[in-house]
Amino acid sequence: MKIFKDTEFAHIRESMGYSVKEVAGLLGKSERTIYRWEKGESAPEENLLRELKAIYNVRSGQHSENANFRFIDLFAGIGGLRKAFESIGGKCVFTSEWDSACRQTYQANYDCDHPVNGDIRDVDLDKMPQYDVLVAGFPCQPFSIAGVSKKNSLGRPHGFHDATQGTLFFDVAQMIEHHRPKAFLLENVKNLVSHDKGNTFKVIMRTLQEELGYHVDYRVIDAKHFVPQHRERIFIVGFRDDVGFDFKHMTLPEVGPRLGSILHQENGAEDPEPPYTEAPEAKVADKYTLSDRLWEYLQNYAEKHRAKGNGFGYGLFGPEDVARTLSARYYKDGSEILIRQEGKNPRRLTPRECARLMGFDKPGHPPFKIPVSDTQAYKQFGNSVAVPVVEAVAAHMLPYIFKVMRTAKDTEQVEMLLEKVEAYG
Ligand SMILES: C[S@@+](CC[C@H](N)C(=O)[O-])C[C@H]1O[C@@H](n2cnc3c(N)ncnc32)[C@H](O)[C@@H]1O
Repeated sequence: MKIFKDTEFAHIRESMGYSVKEVAGLLGKSERTIYRWEKGESAPEENLLRELKAIYNVRSGQHSENANFRFIDLFAGIGGLRKAFESIGGKCVFTSEWDSACRQTYQANYDCDHPVNGDIRDVDLDKMPQYDVLVAGFPCQPFSIAGVSKKNSLGRPHGFHDATQGTLFFDVAQMIEHHRPKAFLLENVKNLVSHDKGNTFKVIMRTLQEELGYHVDYRVIDAKHFVPQHRERIFIVGFRDDVGFDFKHMTLPEVGPRLGSILHQENGAEDPEPPYTEAPEAKVADKYTLSDRLWEYLQNYAEKHRAKGNGFGYGLFGPEDVARTLSARYYKDGSEILIRQEGKNPRRLTPRECARLMGFDKPGHPPFKIPVSDTQAYKQFGNSVAVPVVEAVAAHMLPYIFKVMRTAKDTEQVEMLLEKVEAYG
C-alpha cells in the first residue's frame, strides 16, 4: 500500500518483495507491529531493522560487512562455500582441508586467522571453536545400507553410527551431533539422490532429520542461472529449530550469462596475465591450443562412440554457448569444454577462465589468486562450487540464520534468568 512507503522500513520490505505477513514471521513480530512500524507510529527495533537492511543488501548483490554469525568450512577445497558465506557477513572460524595444493590456494585468498586443519577424522571435536553454521562440500563415498537393514531385522539397535561409519558423511554427522550448530549447508553432486537406488540419500536424510532432529530441505540447482556452465549440484540445508526455512520461495535468475562473458577478450582490453595470456593484446597463450595429435585423438574417439550410439565426446563451444560441467579431470585433455578458434585447433580454458566460470572472479573485484600449477588449478576449480549459486543459497538462508540466532539468544537469556531465579531460591 502506497501510504506505507514513506518509512524506511516499508521501503526496504517492499523492495525485497516480502509481504507484511512474511516479514512478521521472519522477525518474530505480529503483523500489527509491522504495520505500526510501516506507518511510522512507532520506531522499529534497531537490531531488527539492521537485520532487514543486511538481508536487503545481500539480496541486491552487495557484500554484507558485519560478522553476524560464525561458521566452519569443512572439505574446504579452495573455499567456494567460504566465499559465499563471507558474502552474507559470516566469519569463518575453522577450516578443514587435507590437500596441500588446495591449502596453498585457500591461504593465498582468505584472511586466515586460524590454521587450516588437515584430515577431518583427526579433529578433536572438543577443541573446536564455537560456531553457528557448519558448511561442508563432503565427498560422496559409496555406502550401502544393506547391512543395516539386516541388523535391524535382527532387532539390534542401529543408527547413523552403524550405517555410515567409515564415511566422511559420518564425520560430518558426528560433528553436528556433538556441537548442534544452529544451521548447516551440505553440498554434493546431484547423483547423491539416486546413488545406490536412493538408499544413500535416504540414510543421509534419515540421519539429519530423525536422528539429529534438524529441519531439513534440499534442492538441486543448475549453475547455468548464474554462470555460463551446466553444473547441477544438490544443496541440503538444515536448521536446528523450526524457523520455517524452505527452498520453495528461492527464485533463480531466468536467463544466465554466456561463455563470451568469461573468455579472454584477446583484443588488448584486458591486461596480459602470463602464463595465461601474453602481451601485447593479452591473447591466450599457445600452450592452451590442442596439439594436432590430441585433437585428432579426441575426434577419432568421439567418432568411435558416435558409431556405437554413445553420446560421449568432446564439447566444442563458442561465446554464445553455455559450457558443460567443468570436472576435476579437465587437466587431462580438456575435452568437456573446448573453445573454438578460427584457423586453429580448439583450445582449453585457461585457469583464469575457469576461475570466472566458477564465479570466483567477478568484474570489479580483485582477481582470485591462483598460486598453483595449471594441473592443480584445473583440479581445484573442477572440484569446487559455482560461488554465485552458493551465494544465492546463503542469501536465502540469511533471514533464517538471523531468526535462529535470535531464538537461541532468547533461549540463552531465559536460561540465564532461570538460573538466577533458582540461585535466589
Ligand atoms: C568436493 S571437494 C570440495 C570443494 C569445496 N567445496 C570448494 O569450494 O573448493 C572435497 C574436498 O574435500 C577434501 N577432503 C577429502 N577428504 C578429506 C578429509 N578426510 N579431511 C579433510 N579434507 C578432505 C578434498 O581434498 C577436496 O578438496
